[in-house]
Amino acid sequence: MANLEVNYLGLTLKNPIIVGSSGLTDKSEAIRNLEQNGAAAVVLKSLFEEEILLEKEAMLSQMQSGGFLYPETVDFYQYEEAPKETTMDYLELIRETKKQVSIPVLASINCMTAQQWTWFPKEIENAGADGLELNLFILPTDMKRSAGENEKVYFDIVEEVCSKVNIPVSLKISYYFSNLATMINRLSTTGIKGLVLFNRFYSPDIDIENFQLTSGSVLSTPGDLSLSLRWIAIMAERVDCDLAASTGIHDAPAVIKQILAGANAVQVVSAIYKHGGEKIAEMLHQLGSWMDKHGFSSVDQFRGKMSQVGGDNPAAFERVQFMKYFRGFTGDEM
Ligand SMILES: Cc1cc2nc3c(=O)[nH]c(=O)nc-3n(C[C@H](O)[C@H](O)[C@H](O)COP(=O)(O)O)c2cc1C
Repeated sequence: MANLEVNYLGLTLKNPIIVGSSGLTDKSEAIRNLEQNGAAAVVLKSLFEEEILLEKEAMLSQMQSGGFLYPETVDFYQYEEAPKETTMDYLELIRETKKQVSIPVLASINCMTAQQWTWFPKEIENAGADGLELNLFILPTDMKRSAGENEKVYFDIVEEVCSKVNIPVSLKISYYFSNLATMINRLSTTGIKGLVLFNRFYSPDIDIENFQLTSGSVLSTPGDLSLSLRWIAIMAERVDCDLAASTGIHDAPAVIKQILAGANAVQVVSAIYKHGGEKIAEMLHQLGSWMDKHGFSSVDQFRGKMSQVGGDNPAAFERVQFMKYFRGFTGDEM
């Protein structure tokens, strides 16, 4: 039987399938079930920077209104000394999950600034998390801000967080950058151990009968795979950190494609929401069978075989215009 083991963020994973940050990973019992179905690691549901900061606000106003301190001492009060409910719950989730499972548990923080929340990653490390994924996204809508200003925030946050912890830090990003390849490459040299390409975001939709804003589809479809597949393939072997693929991975062929493109690991969410944790077991079984069929005894033997650098048709990943390629296309070909 093929050996499915991979290395990701300096951690040895028993296979390449990680359950991505979501409501699937906010309870330790549910995570135990994912482990039983074969998940190699989990990324916990994100704690939001705002949640950490809001608790600070609440704490400060309580201190000021309670009158149990002289107001000026509030300025000297160290937030580090007073973690409150949400942050405490999050640390408890890490501790409890670490007790219940033996797979690596990665915490996740959704952040947009390098400000006063950055003491918290050390608490996450102390609670026993095996790594920290930063879920970082600035929707570039502010027309007064330059691309450079937006991008600087990523480097500031990574520098700040990496200087505070010893556990591996990874970064989950979007594809909204003015020069995506350069940005991914530069981020990979900052000290982070992995990049997750790409996050999927809440998208608004419009109800044309009731003239109301609604939510777009929350879950991805298999067709959403192509964006991350292209960029994993383009960036593989051009970065100084590991790559995890995320979005649209719904079956074993998608896992295999991402590894052929050069991913060290993949993150799966929507497929598990749709089909349950058993989907992981099915994907692993099919991955093993495919490896046996093609004579691969380890994942490393085929990782990157079809990347832009490793494959024999590098131009295909940069082809973007349909016109020439599909001249004479009638629709019957698919
Ligand atoms: C219901 C739901 C909740 C999510 N919550 C988070 C989150 O807290 N933090 C995060 O980084 N990503 C979150 N995600 C994004 C997923 O981790 C993943 O990147 C995205 O769903 C694409 O993967 P998929 O195609 O396998 O679903 C969430 C996704 C879903 C569907």
